[in-house]
Amino acid sequence: MEKAPDPDLGTELIPKERYTSVEFMRLEQERMWRRVWLLAGRESDIPTPGDYFTFELGSESILVVRQESGVIAARYNVCRHRGNRLREPGLGHAAAFPCRFHGWVYDISGGLEFVPDAETFPQGVNKETLGLRELQCDTWGGFVWISMNPDAEPLREYLGMIPGHLDPYHFEAQSIINDVTLEVDCNWKTCVDAFNEAYHVQSTHPGLMHYSDDVNVQIDVYEKHSRFLYPLAVVSPRLPTPKEIPEPIRELFLRGSGIDPDNFKGTLEDVRPAIAKSMREVIGPAMGIDLSELNDDQLVDDYHYTIFPNITLNIHARGAWVFRHRPHPQDPNKMFFDFYNLLRAPNADSARPPHEQHKSSEYSLSVIPGGDVLDEDMYNLPRVQAGMSSHSYEGLFLGSQELRIRHFHRTLDGYIEKGI
Ligand SMILES: [Fe+2]
Repeated sequence: MEKAPDPDLGTELIPKERYTSVEFMRLEQERMWRRVWLLAGRESDIPTPGDYFTFELGSESILVVRQESGVIAARYNVCRHRGNRLREPGLGHAAAFPCRFHGWVYDISGGLEFVPDAETFPQGVNKETLGLRELQCDTWGGFVWISMNPDAEPLREYLGMIPGHLDPYHFEAQSIINDVTLEVDCNWKTCVDAFNEAYHVQSTHPGLMHYSDDVNVQIDVYEKHSRFLYPLAVVSPRLPTPKEIPEPIRELFLRGSGIDPDNFKGTLEDVRPAIAKSMREVIGPAMGIDLSELNDDQLVDDYHYTIFPNITLNIHARGAWVFRHRPHPQDPNKMFFDFYNLLRAPNADSARPPHEQHKSSEYSLSVIPGGDVLDEDMYNLPRVQAGMSSHSYEGLFLGSQELRIRHFHRTLDGYIEKGI
């Protein structure tokens, strides 16, 4: 809960070219994406040896594979012979990875197993050195993380304060209940920025003001990562204090946490403590989850974290929304927004839903509870990108409510300026 000291990050414009130029996109690829740790997927998607998923990041495609030993390993999804991609994007099971092009075969640990007509390579086919190229791979929170940087610091070190803050939520015990990717007409950072401040709530999400406090938002920035603590089940101080408990607080929060709003005798101020109590005494036991590691605010609020560079977490006691912002392979004006909706419900026995991919402009996230708020964000993104492309626009003019955006760009600049 402790507030981190606010650094002085200045008041300069954030130059807009980084959102629109192919040159900056290339710098990011070489100097940032290849050096950080990246969330590649969920451990639970590959329980058995030979299970794999691909992770597509810009021009790279990576195979993440459960090994015979049970550990998870990552290899580039690229045949060493002529560069063919071995597997299409997605989730699957493989006894081996044969290349369709000429029939080279790799085993699930990435070793080169078979080369047709090997004697016709006068240079020799050294199976020891021609395995699939390996990447660093580790796990935290039920997520698989990879790094293309052979010299990257250990994952735990990279994550810094994140495990200490977020282990009590037990992401490793959460299940995927929605898995959607949207292709959006904006730069990946346009999307990261859009979730890094609550300043836009009053204009973009006026409905949210009836059940959240967009003013008293604690902002904390750390070495690479950041967060804000976003209070829920209250009314925004920008609105007049209501005489009655507003409808969304009655329905979403009281009823949603097992309290009948018609029998609730308290005032608006009593709602948050009542929710925390009911979460501990009714919802936790009913769902079969132990909430004792979470404090009362964590049982009500949205603890909102950004893990540099491209992960946004909206975290609640019972689950989390995980957003992953991925760059397009060629176009700085496009990106992929991956959305995992996670639920901590050991008693539920619903199967993992299939991954869906849509164009953002043709799909509504309102099929997911709360997703109507995300639709409001998604509506803005291509319009922000289009406006930034105007020669008249110079860069982001940020206020103190947008400190996390400034901090994110400072961290990015650290990678870009350090060079290769
Ligand atoms: Fe928003």
